[in-house]
Amino acid sequence: MNFIKVDSYEKLSITAANIIAAQIIMKPNCVLGLATGSSPVGTYKELIKKCDAGELDFSTVTSVNLDEYVGLDGSHDQSYRYFMNTNLFDHVNIDKARTAVPSGMSDDLAAEGAAYDKHIASLGGIDLQLLGIGLDGHIGFNEPADVFVKETHEVELHESTIEANARFFADIKDVPTKAITMGMGAIMNAKKVLLVANGANKKDILEKSFFGPITPQVPASILQLHPDVTVIYSEN
Ligand code: F6R
Repeated sequence: MNFIKVDSYEKLSITAANIIAAQIIMKPNCVLGLATGSSPVGTYKELIKKCDAGELDFSTVTSVNLDEYVGLDGSHDQSYRYFMNTNLFDHVNIDKARTAVPSGMSDDLAAEGAAYDKHIASLGGIDLQLLGIGLDGHIGFNEPADVFVKETHEVELHESTIEANARFFADIKDVPTKAITMGMGAIMNAKKVLLVANGANKKDILEKSFFGPITPQVPASILQLHPDVTVIYSEN
């Protein structure tokens, strides 16, 4: 594992964007696994800057996102599709037809999950997976559980995740309690994993995840078994 500690969120974002840019330059038709949440917002801003400066071309990039809330459609301003459009896709020259976010509106989430995994497999898997980490160690929305789930699946969000995400909603009652998330299979099959985390409150869970026992009770701990993980952390 490559652990990069920086002293500001800005440096974290610049470093992460440089790694993603290198991936796109080395393989212009790469498959990026993308994340939402507050951690990658600065990274996306830096990628947009590079695109504006003509340094980066997303025209042949394909993306697959980690997760989506159940019950929010893509036009809802707290849906992850909306997040991706407004924080990245609307501002770079990516072809939106090549961007995938699982649908939380499907009547049959098991079928949606199976179709999502099939889509990822049809792309040949993910070249670089960007991740954040939840305070309980979740990656995507793979919450602490008795087992690691391989496939894209429906999950009940844990109370701490709902509380953490309430900051984006008018009322905690509006936070969806369920989500659909990529499972550990597609994440672990990604050729490279890049995890970004900032804030003193993420320090303990990073320590547990990367230096503690590998257990589904700390979902990110599975990344200790991945051969190419870079973690960028800023305490600020
Ligand atoms: C988002 C996601 C989540 C977040 C995690 C951290 O697509 O999959 O795992 O990365 O909840 O969120 P932030 O960055 O808001 O602390």
